[in-house]
Amino acid sequence: MAKRLAGFIILIIALFFLFVAVLLLLNPSGKRKEICRNHGIPFGAVIAHRGASYYAPEETEPAYLLARDMGADYLEVDVQRTKDGVLVALHDDTLERTTNVASVFPGREKDPIETFTFAEVRRLDAGSWFNAKYPHKARPKFAGVKILSLEEVLRIAKGGVHKPGVYIEIKSPKRFPNIVQQLVNMLERLGWTIGGDETHTANGIVRVGTSRGRIILQSFDPDCVAEFVHFAPQIPRVYLYGSDDVETMGWKAIINTARRLSAGCGPSGYVATPFKNKNAHDARLFVHVYTINKRWQAQLISLFGADGFFTDRPDMMLEFYGRIPSDTIENILTKHGY
Ligand code: G3P
Ligand code: CA
Repeated sequence: MAKRLAGFIILIIALFFLFVAVLLLLNPSGKRKEICRNHGIPFGAVIAHRGASYYAPEETEPAYLLARDMGADYLEVDVQRTKDGVLVALHDDTLERTTNVASVFPGREKDPIETFTFAEVRRLDAGSWFNAKYPHKARPKFAGVKILSLEEVLRIAKGGVHKPGVYIEIKSPKRFPNIVQQLVNMLERLGWTIGGDETHTANGIVRVGTSRGRIILQSFDPDCVAEFVHFAPQIPRVYLYGSDDVETMGWKAIINTARRLSAGCGPSGYVATPFKNKNAHDARLFVHVYTINKRWQAQLISLFGADGFFTDRPDMMLEFYGRIPSDTIENILTKHGY
């Protein structure tokens, strides 16, 4: 009986190692590192999703300062536009979930961001909702934080020691005519699209320098990704897709679109399967998976071939990749007056 049990355990262990070996053969890390390196993108990229948004109100100054000073590779930002043409960091179409718009502008809480001027948007408190929803993470100074312009997010990325890149998603591009051209013009004006330095380290991580790979453009809309190609062919781009997209379009159409646009793949966690990732890598496209906040998920999806992760918890992801966050959450927030 004991012998049988031992045999069974050995079989399970052998199958496990066989499974891992097959996964590693499907998406070999050497090839993936090279693909990332060719774009100037760190292999094992830590992308702070809406900033370090697990710990501070999403897309606001404290969330981005936290991510930057922990040492995340990228600050992720969702971009939309106000009535008077200012590009701002906001995820939802409306201000209802993440601001006090209902009390400042009663009756306008369901109105989209493009019906508000930037001055109006700046009157809103974009932090108190976080304190109310997450009392255990609340901080008095989060109350009253403002919605940021994209220019301010870029300025945060340029400050500090780590100089993260900025990973810019155009939200609902059809609602904002010419937004890609406007964005690229801004990046050029602010010096974010000029060639610059980068360093390759022994473990394959590229420390992002001043430009190549320091900006990545992303969208769920293939027409928008095509505009990235048109207006900024030199900037790496990512085609995002979730399980709904795979269901409605079919995987072949998605991977063919990514190939046609030479766009990295941005699948949601459930969609990042080993064979799909292999299709991407065979087309020399990198794979950045959203939004992963648990270490075991990062472990599994890494084996499946993810080259980096969007995460609300960049400190966790840095540690997952064997990198040490530069400072604690408490220290960073306190240092910046939060
Ligand atoms: O941009 C990657 C990921 O952020 C897409 O999802 O809805 O959080 O913007 P969402
Ligand atoms: Ca996003």
